[in-house]
Amino acid sequence: MSLQQTLAIVKPDAVRAGNTGHIVQMIEDAGFSIKNMKKTSLTKAQAEGFYYVHAARPFFGELVTFMTSGPVVLMILEAEDAIQKWRDLMGPTDATKAPKDTVRGRFGTSIGENASHGSDAPETAAFETAYFFSCFERK
Ligand code: RTP
Ligand code: MG
Repeated sequence: MSLQQTLAIVKPDAVRAGNTGHIVQMIEDAGFSIKNMKKTSLTKAQAEGFYYVHAARPFFGELVTFMTSGPVVLMILEAEDAIQKWRDLMGPTDATKAPKDTVRGRFGTSIGENASHGSDAPETAAFETAYFFSCFERK
C-alpha cells in the first residue's frame, strides 16, 4: 500500500440537492485528507474532455448534459490506497443497486445521476487530478 491521490467530484445532482456537506463529512469520517477542493461549473468542452474515454458510448451525450447541468465540487483526496478506498465509499455506478451506507446509495438516484465520481486507476487519477488542479494545488 502507498499514499495515493484520487479525484472526487460531487456531481450536479448532489450539489443541487444540498448534499455536498454530507458527502464531505463521509469523506472526512473515512479518514481521507482533502488536499484541495473547489466549486465550479464545467463547460461542455471540459466535461467532454474529462470523460473522453466514454466518447463512443451511447450515454455520452446524456452524461455531458448532466455534468454541465449545474455546479460541481472537485476534490483531491489523499489516503493509503485512496483510489479503491474512495470507489468503495462511493458504491457501484448504478445508485439503485448501491448499499445505503455508500455515497451513491444515500444520495444517487439512478445509473446516470449517481452523486459522485472517482478515478478508477493510478493513470486516470494522475490525468484527472491534473485536469482540474495545478501541481501547486496538489501538494
Ligand atoms: P465515474 O467515472 O463517474 O466515477 O463513474 P463510474 O466509474 O462508476 O462509471 P463509468 O462507467 O466510468 O461511467 C461514467 C458515468 O457515466 C454515467 N453512466 N450512465 N446511462 C448509463 O448507462 C450510464 N452508464 C454510466 C454515470 O454518471 C457514470 O458515473
Ligand atoms: Mg469511471
